[in-house]
Amino acid sequence: MTTILVTGGAGFIGANFVRFLLANRPDCRVINADVLTYSGNLENLTSIESDPRYRFVKADICDAAAMEPLVEEADAVVHMAAESHVDRSILDSEPFIRTNVLGTQVMLDVVRKAPGKPRRFLYVSTDEVYGSLPLEDKSLLFTEETPITANSPYAASKASGDLLVGAYHHTFGMDTVTTRCSNNFGPYQFPEKVIPLFVANLIEGKKVPLYGDGLNVRDWLHVDDHCEAILTVLEKGTAGEVYNVGGNNERSNIELTHSILGLMGFGEEMIEPVKDRLGHDRRYAIDATKIARELGWHPTRSAWPGALAETVRWYQDNTEWWQRVRTGAYRDYYEQQYGRAASA
Ligand code: NAD
Ligand code: DAU
Repeated sequence: MTTILVTGGAGFIGANFVRFLLANRPDCRVINADVLTYSGNLENLTSIESDPRYRFVKADICDAAAMEPLVEEADAVVHMAAESHVDRSILDSEPFIRTNVLGTQVMLDVVRKAPGKPRRFLYVSTDEVYGSLPLEDKSLLFTEETPITANSPYAASKASGDLLVGAYHHTFGMDTVTTRCSNNFGPYQFPEKVIPLFVANLIEGKKVPLYGDGLNVRDWLHVDDHCEAILTVLEKGTAGEVYNVGGNNERSNIELTHSILGLMGFGEEMIEPVKDRLGHDRRYAIDATKIARELGWHPTRSAWPGALAETVRWYQDNTEWWQRVRTGAYRDYYEQQYGRAASA
């Protein structure tokens, strides 16, 4: 049995990754260490919570003493716990620096100093560390050699973690690998991110708040494709290397909005143009040829518009899930499941 410690496994990508790992690697045990911030939701994991190969531990990645025994038990660490929402980082960057920078440094030191065999450390980074591309020249793409130019406090905090990972490989010879992925979509995404937010608003009869001129472009990748890429890099990636992960699926926000409106049977009148995000990155676009060429990974579940339609349907079919998130009721689940003492 191989034991993988996943940090942030109760979030959107984390919960999908934990399920993906258990389903695809029967010889894997998973420890999910998550402190359960507002975006950590154990209801994302009810389908596997009684699997004997799975264990949840409520713990903060900034707490080295809590992380040490978990790392010692593990053969490898997939580090994805983070503050993840750009708009929140603009309102208050402090939790982003704490978790994404300090927390990553703590995890690196705990893994580096853990007794016994060396452990692989995979850092789930983001394409936002590359800054922004212009809309005018579609031939420009982020490659692994594109200089780090983070523009939002979120991106700067992820870039700091990313640079620390590179530094720990260079300085201490740690076995690190890094993935830099584009925008994910799929089930269990916290309804502050654009796709679940827009679908939930429309179901509730509310308009969708489109930032600025709506021409900003994102590359959309289904979360299952991202999970497969993470596992591929974990198992086959070269130590010290960075791998871009993307869907080759660029859409402007206005195009995305029209697609969602169309799929749900609404018209333009449901769009509410609102003030732009401060420092709003114009375009993200990934060149993912390295991971394809060297590790044989290709996206297989992100094809548009089918994959978007399937995701929209998931939020339509699981209204209770996001309604419980929106009302905060999902937080009761932890106490029901683990008891009041466990949450102290
Ligand atoms: P999310 O906000 O849905 O989940 C984050 C998880 O981390 C939550 O479960 C939260 O409770 C946990 N967490 C936060 N602070 C913690 C701490 N101090 N200790 C332990 N756990 C903590 O985020 P997500 O969208 O699933 O993103 C996961 C990772 O993937 C992040 O590192 C993010 O930067 C990266 N990423 C996300 C995307 C995307 O499109 N969502 C794309 C590329 C990279
Ligand atoms: O590119 C990878 C990144 O993708 C990840 O690192 C981040 O964790 C993840 O949150 C995501 O960042 P974005 O800022 O691109 O995602 P978000 O869903 O917040 O916004 C997507 C686009 O939609 C962006 O251009 C802003 C726009 N938007 C967003 C919201 C929430 C709107 O127009 N209206 C909105 O209400």
